[in-house]
Amino acid sequence: MTQQPLTLEQFLVAHPPAPPGDPNALAALFSAIGLIGKSLSRDLRLAGLLNILGTTGETNVQGEAVKKLDEIANETFVKVLQQSGVACALASEEMEKPVIVSGQGRRQAPYMVLFDPLDGSSNTDVNMPLGSIFSIVAARSANQPPVEGDLLTRGTGQAAAGYLLFGPSTMLVFTTRAGVHGFTLDPGLGEYLLSHEAIRIPARGKVYAANEGNYHKWPAGTRRYLDSLKQQDKATGRPYSGRYSGCLVADVHRILLGGGIYLYPGEIAKPEGKLRLLYEANPMALVVEEAGGKASTGTKRILDVEPTKLHQRVPLIIGSRDDVAEAETSMQADR
Ligand code: AHG
Ligand code: MN
Ligand code: MN
Repeated sequence: MTQQPLTLEQFLVAHPPAPPGDPNALAALFSAIGLIGKSLSRDLRLAGLLNILGTTGETNVQGEAVKKLDEIANETFVKVLQQSGVACALASEEMEKPVIVSGQGRRQAPYMVLFDPLDGSSNTDVNMPLGSIFSIVAARSANQPPVEGDLLTRGTGQAAAGYLLFGPSTMLVFTTRAGVHGFTLDPGLGEYLLSHEAIRIPARGKVYAANEGNYHKWPAGTRRYLDSLKQQDKATGRPYSGRYSGCLVADVHRILLGGGIYLYPGEIAKPEGKLRLLYEANPMALVVEEAGGKASTGTKRILDVEPTKLHQRVPLIIGSRDDVAEAETSMQADR
């Protein structure tokens, strides 16, 4: 008889996070994130039928047009995490200021959650993959409510991180700093089942993901690295295949499973790049490093970047260890 895959709940009981992690609180948090995934996957499946495509007419704190689905996803995250009882602060790409959740009596909830509620928003109107990204950080104090500055924690300080991927199936991929595990939502059962245990990213891949429309805005070292991937060289498996979906989660998920490199580099006129450190780069970096890969700004490890503001942007080069190291060499030689 084939074995029944573990549910998310069973897995968390069997693999409690190491101290100082709080197993019950983290289990409650993952159950909340699982619920968010179910709710969003239902919304996204029906998006073309309900009047929830297109933009709201508003601009968010990032200066980007807000899609109706960005707003729905953000509200879902905030509501469900508030109700979970284990999150004391919520920071989102879509909100200028964090939401502080007041504790019961003097006791504060043990975790803070930072998230990109909907990643790949340009894909909403064309039925292409989307994601959500989350970063979980232990609260500084059990007795004092958190303040905004507490959220400015280096990536190395994350207790857990992961993403939801809304593709042909819905997946939850995460790390509690003991490997990376992938669960697939069985919509009939309403359960996430362990489908990808202990994911390891190959040391080198044959795929690159980058928006090459920006090629002429990049510094010379970045351009030279991209050029090198297209050269013919059997020994190093070149040319690489280009695969870019416009959804960081989907592109990095492909690379996590099969190897390769994703780049959203800095530009000459915009050296900070586009992606956000706290909601996108840090959580994806923790997942990829936990799977044996590497994440860099081009000059520095992502997880070591000191955050100075909530909506800080950072260049992101992430994926297979050897590919990212090679990109760094080229980028550092010629900035
Ligand atoms: P978001 O939808 O949360 O703003 O993120 C979009 C991000 C990322 O998902 C993707 O890789 C990248 O921005 C796409 O940007 P370009 O359209 O500039 O390629
Ligand atoms: Mn995003
Ligand atoms: Mn987003």
